[in-house]
Amino acid sequence: MAIRPIIKLPDPRLKLVSDAIPVIDESVRTLAADMLETMYDAPGIGLAAIQIGVPKRVIVIDVSGKDEPKAPMILINARLVSASDEMSVYEEGCLSIPDYYAEVERPARVTVSYLDEHGAERRIEAEGLLATCLQHEIDHTNGINFIDHLSKLKRDRVIKKFTKAAKLEQPAAEPAPHRSMAG
Ligand code: NI
Repeated sequence: MAIRPIIKLPDPRLKLVSDAIPVIDESVRTLAADMLETMYDAPGIGLAAIQIGVPKRVIVIDVSGKDEPKAPMILINARLVSASDEMSVYEEGCLSIPDYYAEVERPARVTVSYLDEHGAERRIEAEGLLATCLQHEIDHTNGINFIDHLSKLKRDRVIKKFTKAAKLEQPAAEPAPHRSMAG
């Protein structure tokens, strides 16, 4: 297992639609194990493979409380089967948009189908935090980030802030070679 670097806004890969996984083999299980380790290290409650730069439909989640035993979930090729009309609002954050939180309204209850790490078909009905987390992570596999659910004004402001920060993090550019003006 290994902790992998998490990509951050405005990395364009966060907008990629991830590929479905046709065969679940050891490489997929290793990817999921790395994702869990990366998520726990961050720490976070959910992570999609694209957040470590891998455009595959793998999600890991653990919404257990701080004093509860760990409850890791691995969801492959997860998709939303149904969603309630009733909505709920949670303050969301994202490991790819660190230290930014905003309220997002989503269906309060969802049914999600997926494959587990052994390839068995599974279905989960969720509400509360897990329902929100499932929708947030499935969004990632479709290239949608939680800030895409905010107003354009708020979204643009966050993107601008992170774009600026990313530029500052880059090593200083080499001084431009001197060129004499011609003409
Ligand atoms: Ni996220």
